[in-house]
Amino acid sequence: MNKIKIGQVGLGRLGQIHAENIFKNIVGAELYAVTSVVPEELDYAKKELQVEHCYTSYTDMINDDMLDAIVIASPSGFHEIQISQALEKGLHVFSEKPIGLELDNIKHLVSDLDNYQNQIFQLGFMRRFDESYIYAKEAVDSGKLGEITTIRCYGIDPSNGLDSFIKFAENNVSGGIFLDMSIHDIDLIRWFTEKEFSTVYSLGNNLAAPQLSNCNELETGACLAELENGVIAYLLAGRNAQHGYHVETEIIGTKGMLRIGNSPEKNLVTLYDENGVVRPTSNHFPERFKSAFINEINSFVSAIQNQQKPTVTGIDGLKSTEVALAMQKSFETKQIVQLEED
Ligand code: NAI
Repeated sequence: MNKIKIGQVGLGRLGQIHAENIFKNIVGAELYAVTSVVPEELDYAKKELQVEHCYTSYTDMINDDMLDAIVIASPSGFHEIQISQALEKGLHVFSEKPIGLELDNIKHLVSDLDNYQNQIFQLGFMRRFDESYIYAKEAVDSGKLGEITTIRCYGIDPSNGLDSFIKFAENNVSGGIFLDMSIHDIDLIRWFTEKEFSTVYSLGNNLAAPQLSNCNELETGACLAELENGVIAYLLAGRNAQHGYHVETEIIGTKGMLRIGNSPEKNLVTLYDENGVVRPTSNHFPERFKSAFINEINSFVSAIQNQQKPTVTGIDGLKSTEVALAMQKSFETKQIVQLEED
């Protein structure tokens, strides 16, 4: 089978992970071209990843007729337009989350996806491709927990990344903590329950990073939500976990409960020394979700090769964004926000 020729836009923090995975770990694909506005990143792609076709303009890259597919790892504000442009060129598209920042544009894009039935579109909710989350999903689907009553999610970035986030936030738009971070948990909740959110109430503070208030960002954001069938969800996102990268999910059902990552362990090692009994923690998302990032691109490539429907769709992108924006609105207005029913 011919290798899928991928062009990737964005070679930053996350882009380098995807680019290296495509180069080293994805047997069915080739990293054929890259676009970045940072010259050093293009040098890196040329030297380290042997990419011959390096662009500073996304439009120039997608005009290359040799391409089969695009991986988008640019800043969130570009996603929706870059997805549309690639689809118009007849390319398959994998885009990082979120699908976009503006709801009307996203709705337009998602309804437009119906016109591209023969092209694969997949969104980067990589947690669905993590071994532990897959195991938990199988447990839920097999009825081991009975009916889900409550879900609690923590997603807290390590504090050693806080200063660089503050610098980023001074000049860039992340979309806010709910759209940038909670969106992973929103997607997990929709995935586990197969239900939609109905109401949200959010709070936030910057006690750990007062500077973020000047950039309209939050260090900590929390939300209490209700799903359409009455399931209760609590979501907490933060940027200041002193011990490492803390991603934790708890699902409580009528017959049992489960937890994924309740202590965010790096591996199976326990250290016994002058500090006591120490369990090392995973340090950030590239480490914790290393395999998930490989699995999601493998799944995208395999969907192209076998003409299968991808598991994370445009609707997942739209629904999760609607919820994240409602959470942001709730924080700003201090009101409970009701999600519109379809
Ligand atoms: P970054 O700021 O480190 O990198 C951005 C990249 O986009 C750079 O290579 C830059 O050259 C390129 N770029 C910027 N403007 C461009 C333009 N006009 N045309 C072409 N390229 C341009 O950003 P980071 O942290 O890698 O995030 C990228 C995306 O990935 C974001 O949407 C973010 O939400 C998502 N992300 C997802 C994660 C996950 O867990 N799935 C984790 C981290 C980020």
